[in-house]
Amino acid sequence: MTNRDIEDVVDTSDEWIVQRTGIRQRYVAGEGETTSSLGEAAARAALDNAGLTPADIDLIICATSTPDNTFPATAVNIQNRLGMSHGFAFDVQAVCTGFVYAVTTADAYIRGGLAKRVLVIGAETFSRILDWNDRTTCVLFGDGAGAIVLEASEGEGKTSDRGVLTAHLRSDGSHKDKLFVDGGPSSTGTVGKLRMEGREVFKYAVGMITDVITAAFEATGTTSDDLDWLVPHQANRRIIDGSAKKLNIAPEKVVVTVDLHGNTSAASIPLALAVAAGDGRIKKGDLVMLEAMGGGFTWGAVLLRW
Ligand SMILES: CC(C)(COP(=O)(O)OP(=O)(O)OC[C@H]1O[C@@H](n2cnc3c(N)ncnc32)[C@H](O)[C@@H]1OP(=O)(O)O)[C@@H](O)C(=O)NCCC(=O)NCCS
Repeated sequence: MTNRDIEDVVDTSDEWIVQRTGIRQRYVAGEGETTSSLGEAAARAALDNAGLTPADIDLIICATSTPDNTFPATAVNIQNRLGMSHGFAFDVQAVCTGFVYAVTTADAYIRGGLAKRVLVIGAETFSRILDWNDRTTCVLFGDGAGAIVLEASEGEGKTSDRGVLTAHLRSDGSHKDKLFVDGGPSSTGTVGKLRMEGREVFKYAVGMITDVITAAFEATGTTSDDLDWLVPHQANRRIIDGSAKKLNIAPEKVVVTVDLHGNTSAASIPLALAVAAGDGRIKKGDLVMLEAMGGGFTWGAVLLRW
């Protein structure tokens, strides 16, 4: 769905959307498609890319705020779609920071010896919780899914090791009313619609993002010069550019896909990874920073070697 297509739905313009957000188009799940069907497709693509099959996976973590059902977990639906009845699967819900939380969780399970190969998926159908009469929100979000496989291996405890080097997660529920869904099983008994005070979210975003990225650099003794790629949550071009500038990260090191996908919440980082690894930018051994901020608020950064 292009910005021009959205002009037929609400009173907006391609110019306004591009100028304020950088978004040019977003995808909307078709009839019969669900978060788990998108997640399954992403999972299969990641497994193919890794030369693995579902038999090689012992844990599936799906980051989503738009599950197929209140329960069972979308990760369990994806497990079933993959024909798996071994191992275990669960969802992580941290809105737009979901993928950063899920990668951190997968890494902790691997380090703790509870899993060897983890399929980490970010999958969303935000189109289903948008108020399509509200131009301040419906132009911003889209649907999609992406996935990676994390595998246990021995390292030397150095930043030259591959995998997750450090993770910094934060949340602060006092910001709840700035970005939330106005329904739920235990409050209204309905699914609800997304509500957001965009300007308020914008005010906090750059500061929160740069704080956790700085913490990741400090924890590993690395700097923005060492970084090969910043792969940010794709909410808004101005937030991405503002964060990179504040941290002295060169624009050519920043992966931007918000123009292609809009804000796909927990799916945005793995979609951006798929684009930048797929076109050959991100290569084995590269130092990659993932970061996100979202409803809650939640925010976080993961520094990893690809
Ligand atoms: C949402 C966002 C793009 C709005 O940009 P903004 O510059 O703050 O715009 P404002 O909300 O101040 O609105 C400015 C004007 O544009 C109008 N407007 C809002 N949405 C519009 C749209 N889709 N099309 C055209 N005009 C629109 C407003 O009504 C307002 O008009 P007014 O001045 O006559 O009252 C911006 O606040 C933002 O990006 N916030 C962060 C949101 C985000 O990324 N959330 C997800 C985090 S995970």
